[in-house]
Amino acid sequence: MQYQANDLEQHWLPFTANREFKNDPRLIVGGEGLYMKDHKGGTVIDGSSGLFCCPLGHGRKEIAEAVYQQLLENDYASPFMLSTPGTFELANRVARITPDSINHVFFVNSGSESVDTALKMVMAYHRARGEGHRTRFVSRERAYHGVNIGGISLSGMVKNRETFSSVMPNVVTMRHTWNPDETFVRGQPEHGVELADDLTRFCETYGGTTIAAVFVEPIAGSTGVLVPPKGYLERLREICDEHGILLVFDEVICGFGRLGYAFASDAFGVTPDIMTMAKALTNGAQPMGAVAVGDHIYKTITEAAPENAIEFFHGYTYSGHPAACAAGITVQKIYEKENLFEKSAAMSDYFLDGLFSLRDLDCIKDIRGFGMMGALELKAKGAPGLRGTQAQKDCFWNGLHVKFTGDAGIFAPPFISEKEHIDEMMDKMRKTLESL
Ligand SMILES: Cc1ncc(COP(=O)(O)O)c(C=O)c1O
Repeated sequence: MQYQANDLEQHWLPFTANREFKNDPRLIVGGEGLYMKDHKGGTVIDGSSGLFCCPLGHGRKEIAEAVYQQLLENDYASPFMLSTPGTFELANRVARITPDSINHVFFVNSGSESVDTALKMVMAYHRARGEGHRTRFVSRERAYHGVNIGGISLSGMVKNRETFSSVMPNVVTMRHTWNPDETFVRGQPEHGVELADDLTRFCETYGGTTIAAVFVEPIAGSTGVLVPPKGYLERLREICDEHGILLVFDEVICGFGRLGYAFASDAFGVTPDIMTMAKALTNGAQPMGAVAVGDHIYKTITEAAPENAIEFFHGYTYSGHPAACAAGITVQKIYEKENLFEKSAAMSDYFLDGLFSLRDLDCIKDIRGFGMMGALELKAKGAPGLRGTQAQKDCFWNGLHVKFTGDAGIFAPPFISEKEHIDEMMDKMRKTLESL
């Protein structure tokens, strides 16, 4: 094949309308702080921290320097039966900010891998306890748990499932928590705790002892920031405890300060058995995810194996990659040194004021938000999602990046945002929606 500079044809873009994109490409060629540069020389403010990854903004020199130095010193070593010092330091730093009972961290390379790893940990835990008959998993409508086979088996998003015919069996799905009668709620809705009783009904239908785990995003992020009703997560925890079911929080978006606390489990005062995480672990600067598990999970699985034998037959070639650990360690140090989780909490009110100020626009169906995460949902026009896709493009050419899923635009500003940055994001969104 002949090489042609700047030919867009060969790259098959993920989750993208490829044919449309290649007619109207949107390339990011630089980034510093809150701003990105497009290939035409325009400046774009990042209202979604990339894909909810970059609370520190772009181009942090300390991260680049740490990765560079790490690659010079030790670029790679097998993570199986060997390790590198950074893995222990990063695991220690993560365990310091997870709930008290969660102190063991397994590294992976993405959010999707963290979910599939958590599924396997659940299976290994029950098997080690002689409860391998717990083969059923519970998820929720409108859930997003990544795109690997385990994750799409748990998925509550039809487009991510319908093409792929062979997924995991034995997954049952609770109702989502968005309530059309309770819109424009800032924070947690008052009503809907009873939706958690879907889990009780599954226990009554299938037998609680057949259910292995419940997977939920504490706030469903990708389907438009569905904040759990008051008491809902607490109720799920209670039902899980009653029936010996593990509770898994997918904190891939919520984790590392997005809700003004280290994790959603702190924000809502509910401790799961297992937490999945990725994205802001490294500020998006290196691909990395992690699964943090309660001490009971780690101990049960490791102690069930014969002494000196491998306990968990799972891992990735790049689990705990030295460069990813270097990025992660640096990012965690910056969060701590610059009190960024507190800064996220302090900016939340201003951000939510700005977001809810868009309520008067005719095209808006609902607005929701919690911490530094919020969504505005547009009234659909034509097929669902078309208006959102157009809005995302128009925002971009108006100098604002906001990730739309379907018709919901999801804001997740970097924690380094000042008030004027929030104002700029909302002004650009208003201008875009007024001429949509
Ligand atoms: C809650 C949740 N879980 C899992 C994932 C998958 O992460 P990744 O795209 O890194 O595989 C995402 C991605 O947005 C997510 O929001």
